[in-house]
Amino acid sequence: MATSTTQQSAKKKVPLFPLLSLLCFTSIFILLSQFRNTSSTSNTVHTFQIHHSSCDYSQGTWIHDPTITPTYDNTCKEIFKGWNCISANKSNALQLPTWRWKPNHCDLPRFDPVKFLRTHTHTSIGFVGDSLNRNMFVSLFCSLKSVSDGQVKKWRPAGADRGFTFLNYNLTIAYHRTNLLARYGRWSASDNRGALETLGFKEGYRVDVDVPESTWAQAPSFHDILIFNTGHWWWAPSKFDPVKSPMLFFKKGQPLIPPLHPDQGLDIVLKLMIQYVEDKARPGAVKFFRTQSPRHFEGGDWDQDGSCQRDWPLSAEQVEELFSVKNNGTNVEARLVNEHLFKALKGSGFVILDITHMSEFRADAHPASTGGKKHDDCMHWCLPGLTDTWNDLFIEHLNSINGRS
Ligand SMILES: *[C@@H]1O[C@H](CO)[C@@H](O)[C@H](O)[C@H]1NC(C)=O
Ligand SMILES: *[C@@H]1O[C@H](CO)[C@@H](O)[C@H](O)[C@H]1NC(C)=O
Ligand SMILES: *[C@@H]1O[C@H](CO)[C@@H](O)[C@H](O)[C@H]1NC(C)=O
Repeated sequence: MATSTTQQSAKKKVPLFPLLSLLCFTSIFILLSQFRNTSSTSNTVHTFQIHHSSCDYSQGTWIHDPTITPTYDNTCKEIFKGWNCISANKSNALQLPTWRWKPNHCDLPRFDPVKFLRTHTHTSIGFVGDSLNRNMFVSLFCSLKSVSDGQVKKWRPAGADRGFTFLNYNLTIAYHRTNLLARYGRWSASDNRGALETLGFKEGYRVDVDVPESTWAQAPSFHDILIFNTGHWWWAPSKFDPVKSPMLFFKKGQPLIPPLHPDQGLDIVLKLMIQYVEDKARPGAVKFFRTQSPRHFEGGDWDQDGSCQRDWPLSAEQVEELFSVKNNGTNVEARLVNEHLFKALKGSGFVILDITHMSEFRADAHPASTGGKKHDDCMHWCLPGLTDTWNDLFIEHLNSINGRS
C-alpha cells in the first residue's frame, strides 16, 4: 500500500509534509468509499486520521498476550528503585507488560521509539506534576534510551528536577516536580492579628493560588510539548491535616476569607494555572493534561495496612465496586479528582489524556510489598508496566494532532 512507503520516509517530516497531507486526504476518501472496518494494527497514516482521533480510548478491555515484549527492562538506570519490580522480585513483574489495552472501537498501537526519535528531532517535552508524572516520564525515557544511538546528556532544563537530551536527535525530555502546581510552603501565625490569626489558625500550609511553583514556572515557555497532572496531594490528609496543618489559600498575597476547602482551592488553582500555561506556552505548543492515576488499596488505606496483592487485572465489576463514587471506598478520589479536572479543562486548549479507567483495572501493576516502604505501595506503578501504555496513548494523540495540522 502507498501508505507504508509514506511511513518509511516519514522520518524527514517537514519537507514531506505537503505530500503526507495529500496522501492522508486521498486515503480518507478511498477508505470512506471502500472500507468501513479497517482496524488494522499497522501505524498507517489513515488509521489515526479516521479512527484514532474520534475513538474513545478510555473504554476497553485488557487482553493478555504473552508474546508482547517490553521495549526496555530492569537495567534502565533511571527507574527509581521502588518501582523496579523485576529487580525487587515481585512475583508477577515480568507478566505486567504482557497486557494490551484494547479500546472498544479502535486499537491503541505500541509506540515505535525508533520512529519517535526520528520524527521528534529538535523537540522538547516537559512532564509537569507529581511522582506519578515522573513514573510516566521514566517509562518514556527508558523506551527511548533502549533504542537511541549517540550520547544522552543529563541536565535540568528550565528548573526541571531531571532531564535528558538525546543529542543525535536534539530531543529533550524533562520532569518538573510539583505537587499542587501552585506554590506552597509552611505557614505559622504571627503576632499581627491577621485575618487567619483572628479565625484561630496557628499552623498550616500557605498555598498561593495564582503563583506557579518555581520548579515549572519556566516550563511553558521552554517546552514544545507539555504533560501536566495534579491530584494526589490534594487528598493527602497526612500532610495537609485539616486541623493540624490545613491548606490556607492566598491570592494576590492575601488570605482568601472565608477559608476554602481543599476541593474549592483545587478548582481555583486549576483555573489559574491552566490560564497561566495558555498565556505562557510557546506558539504551536501541544498541551496535555493527564487525568488522575487510581490507587488500589484494599483492606484499608496506605497507613491502615492496606495492600494490593492481586496478580491479575480486576474485572469490570470489581472496578466499579472499588471506584464508584457511590461506594465511597478507599480509592474514591480517582474519580472525584477527575470531576474537578474535566470541569476546569472544558473549553481550554489542553488535550485530555484520560488514563484513569484503563488504569483502574490494573490492581496487579503496583510495586505493592516490593516497593521498599514500610507500607505497600499501591499508588505508583512498576516499570516496565502500565505507564508504558499511558505513553502509547500520549503518542497516539500526538500523532493524530500532528497529522491534522
Ligand atoms: C531477588 O532474587 C535474586 C535471586 O534469587 C536475589 O539474588 C536478590 O537478592 C533478590 N532481590 C531482592 C531485592 O530481594
Ligand atoms: C534543539 O531543539 C530546540 C527545541 O527543543 C531548538 O530550540 C534548538 O534550536 C535546537 N538546536 C539545534 C542546534 O538545532
Ligand atoms: C466517605 O467516606 C469517608 C470515610 O471513609 C467519610 O469521611 C466521608 O464523609 C464519606 N463521604 C460521603 C460523601 O459519604
